Amino acid sequence: MLVEIFSDYEALSDRAYEIVATLIRRKPNCVLGFATGSTPLGLYQRLVEGYRRGELDFSKVITFNLDEYVGLPPGHPQSYHQFMWEHLFQHVNINPSNVHIPNGMADDIEAHCAWYEAQIQRVGGIDLQILGIGPNGHLAFNEPGSSLGSRTRIKTLSRATRRANARFFGSEEAVPRHAITMGIGTIMEARRLLLLASGRAKARAVRAMLEGPISAMVPATIVQLHRYAHVLLDKEAASELEYNHHDGISEPFDIH
Ligand code: GLP
Repeated sequence: MLVEIFSDYEALSDRAYEIVATLIRRKPNCVLGFATGSTPLGLYQRLVEGYRRGELDFSKVITFNLDEYVGLPPGHPQSYHQFMWEHLFQHVNINPSNVHIPNGMADDIEAHCAWYEAQIQRVGGIDLQILGIGPNGHLAFNEPGSSLGSRTRIKTLSRATRRANARFFGSEEAVPRHAITMGIGTIMEARRLLLLASGRAKARAVRAMLEGPISAMVPATIVQLHRYAHVLLDKEAASELEYNHHDGISEPFDIH
């Protein structure tokens, strides 16, 4: 794993931008996996700015989002569709037909999940998957106890996750009970992972992810098995690490 620790969220977001922008410039038709949540917002803002400065062209970029709440239509203010269009897609020249986000309103969820997996395969797989981490160690909506080989499917959200996401819905009760999420097996097939974590509330999950034993009870620990897992932390998120003297780059990756 390549772990980089930054003084603050802004520096972390600058680095994330550099990585994603480099990929888009080197491979204009790259396949990007996007995540929602507050953590990647700094990156998305920088991608929009990069586009406005003329540094980036999204016209051939293909995207797949990790997850979506079941029962929320795409226009719902808290849907992940809405989130992605509001914070990134509507501001850049992405081709809407290249954007893929699970449909939380699908009639046949199982068939939709199989279709989603097939779309990822059809374009040759994900080049770079951006990830956050839940305070309970979840990846996308793969909650503790998720099979480490899982594929895109419906998951019941844990109490902890509904509590953590209540801030967006006004109350815990209003948070949907289910979500469609890429599986851990699906995420692990991405050629590179770029996981971002910021703030004290993530410190325990980050420690478990990087230094704990691999366990379905902390789904993010699976990144230890990925060939190209790149983890960007700010000081607070790194504050519980025992091995926290990663200062700077240990070994740069090639783009595959
Ligand atoms: C949600 C998303 C995850 C995300 C997590 C952390 O539950 N499904 O993909 O990583 O929240 O969000 P935040 O970045 O807001 O802490």
